[in-house]
Amino acid sequence: MKTAGEKIAQLTSYDFTTAGIIDRAGIDSILVGDSASNVMAGNETTLPITIDEMIVYARGVARACKHCLVVCDMPFGSYQVSREEAVRNAIRIMKETGVDAVKLEGGTEMADTIRAIVAAGVPVEGHLGLTPQSIHKFGGYGLRAKEETEARQLLADAHALDQAGCFAITLEKVPAKLAAQVTSEVKAATIGIGAGPDTDGQVLVYADALGMTQGFKPKFLRHFADMAQCMTQGVQSYIDAVKTGNFPNAEESY
Ligand code: KIV
Repeated sequence: MKTAGEKIAQLTSYDFTTAGIIDRAGIDSILVGDSASNVMAGNETTLPITIDEMIVYARGVARACKHCLVVCDMPFGSYQVSREEAVRNAIRIMKETGVDAVKLEGGTEMADTIRAIVAAGVPVEGHLGLTPQSIHKFGGYGLRAKEETEARQLLADAHALDQAGCFAITLEKVPAKLAAQVTSEVKAATIGIGAGPDTDGQVLVYADALGMTQGFKPKFLRHFADMAQCMTQGVQSYIDAVKTGNFPNAEESY
């Protein structure tokens, strides 16, 4: 798609039912992101989610998807300790879920690990810029690589991931101009979130994009639906129908 100049649309999903809707709507790729830690479990960060939890979410998504490419995040702690453990965990995710690829965060320091996972037959999407698993190192969720030194490092990291064999690279919260430069220089498809319009594709957390998340509206986010309002109305109609004795009616009874 990068070669053809066709933009890539990716959304997250973490369950069978939602993934089925997103897949049937025609999405190119679903990311079973470790944002499941926030969206599904209500944690403040992505750090607590375990590989066992990711496998449960990813299995449901993979089962639902008939068309799109499914990528599963490797959670914090599942690939940083050693290359062997990273390869073992990547293989475990592939074997136990049915996804098509894994994603992990980090730059040059992860290149050898990525090379080893790819050599084992597992496609890898990289992730640069704001990497939420390192949030305690950064100290916040602000824009990354706005200074020259960090921008130069990010460019070097993108080349390292490209050469290590990543088929795609997520670019999170980096200046649009830098994301455009990375996109033009690497073979991998760049998937932006808060990285401007010139990446090869875009990704959003589905609950944010569809207006389900309360009180979260960063500059890069657009609401493509108001699901919170739609669901609230549906729930209120149900409550009303139960309380008034309107539900179930004769046709809905045996
Ligand atoms: O976990 C996630 O949802 C992600 C996207 C925000 C890129 O990594």
